[in-house]
Amino acid sequence: MRQPLIAGNWKLNGTKVSAKALMTAVLEGAKEIGKAEIAVCPPFAFLDLGERLLSGGRVRLGAQNVCTEAGGAYTGEVSAAMLAEFGCRYVICGHSERREYYGETDAIVARKLAVVVSNRMTPILCVGETLEQREQGRMQEVIASQIDAIIEHNGIASFGQLEIAYEPVWAIGTGKTASPEQAQEVHDFIRHRIAGHDATIAAKVRILYGGSMKPGNAGELMSQADIDGGLIGGAALVAEDFLAICRAGDAAAS
Ligand code: 13P
Repeated sequence: MRQPLIAGNWKLNGTKVSAKALMTAVLEGAKEIGKAEIAVCPPFAFLDLGERLLSGGRVRLGAQNVCTEAGGAYTGEVSAAMLAEFGCRYVICGHSERREYYGETDAIVARKLAVVVSNRMTPILCVGETLEQREQGRMQEVIASQIDAIIEHNGIASFGQLEIAYEPVWAIGTGKTASPEQAQEVHDFIRHRIAGHDATIAAKVRILYGGSMKPGNAGELMSQADIDGGLIGGAALVAEDFLAICRAGDAAAS
């Protein structure tokens, strides 16, 4: 296992008051965490709060999305330079909810990865198949096309500058988790796909699992050889649960 990264994706949740309480609790609890790297990705509206509460501390700040463009007439968008100014370390790119509800294609995701890297932040590239695709036996084909598209657009070297999150769409927010074996199979597949181009980059890239990861299943998932952490949705909104997953990451790493 590589150094685990446990990142909380808060999605569209929280108020100024609850975000402050959650960040404060995670920051406090993080003092007990050894090896695992910890990040929280709140909505844009709370990034200023995140910068004020977290900068210089143990918990890194991330964003959930970014505009492909540097600036100009793009109403409602937020640029990578703006995220960097708020001290973001990570930016989630190509989450399945963005792909499904906002029409993000692999080409758009590739451009987002590039703007994030050029602003010295680290993208978390999300990939994953739907239930229908899995049931049709197309899981490998879907994951391969998502990975290959990034290699085609941005080059294999770009995988040396990002994190990957495997998030089976059927496991997100559903309470259905991929079994450790199912997840490991896909993580291994992703790593081999990258290794086909560059074995050194493949050995180093972190592949996180996301999809109903909870304190009760995190340890078993992260004990798999190719599961290097988690991208946590629902459980990241409860400080004790999120910290319990961070502890599981620590235990898996030791
Ligand atoms: P849940 O942990 O709520 O299933 O969400 C996973 C996810 O989409 C994280 O990005």
